[in-house]
Amino acid sequence: MRIDSVRFACSVFRPEDAPEGSDRDVIFVGRSNVGKSSLINRLVGKSGIARVSSTPGRTQSVNFVRVNEAFHLVDFPGYGYARVPEEIRRSWKHLVDGVLEARRRRIVLAVMVMDARHPPSDLDHAMRAWLVENGLPYVVVATKADKIGAGSRTRTAGSLADELSDGGKGHGPAVLLASGKTGLGMREIWKHLERALERPKAAGRRGESWISGS
Ligand code: GTP
Ligand code: MG
Repeated sequence: MRIDSVRFACSVFRPEDAPEGSDRDVIFVGRSNVGKSSLINRLVGKSGIARVSSTPGRTQSVNFVRVNEAFHLVDFPGYGYARVPEEIRRSWKHLVDGVLEARRRRIVLAVMVMDARHPPSDLDHAMRAWLVENGLPYVVVATKADKIGAGSRTRTAGSLADELSDGGKGHGPAVLLASGKTGLGMREIWKHLERALERPKAAGRRGESWISGS
């Protein structure tokens, strides 16, 4: 895809403040610190557009990056960071759930970001189940692949796909290896984004469990 423009659209702290208009969303969800914001920066080729931090739990708002004045890349706050007070965790849940629900019909693709070195957590499984239940296509991006040897990358992607399949029934999701550091995998991810953005919106009906890219 040719990127003509990229701009930070807004940070949303309350579901009702999500941007108006009919833009489509590609959302980036996953555990805290897995590299969601870094991935977005790498995809658009602008290092400062989404805020990156070595402190887990840094992204506390939902951040909308507008591309080509046509669609959003949406950076969600990470889940599963244990050292967060219960009260803050609850307000994150309210925000994340509220934005997901408010944007459900605009989401053309969810990018589930995982650390290539770690198996899926319970929250990853819960997120995947929600996406499937809502008929939303998703792709898994296993990032920080620069931290594992080139020889074991294919195996890593395969075992993540197996672990994320429905108890071994059917195919697991597409798992793409990536690195926000080296740029590995960006072209492949863009291909999935392009395909998703071309798809007619009506394809995602509630309760339907189709999965893209498999
Ligand atoms: P939250 O906003 O807290 O949910 O985190 P996040 O998922 O947005 O992660 P972020 O992009 O802020 O990155 C977290 C840390 O991991 C930072 O120190 C990044 O520099 C590092 N990091 C991110 N992606 C990669 C990668 O592909 N390779 C390596 N080696 N480090 C990475
Ligand atoms: Mg972040």
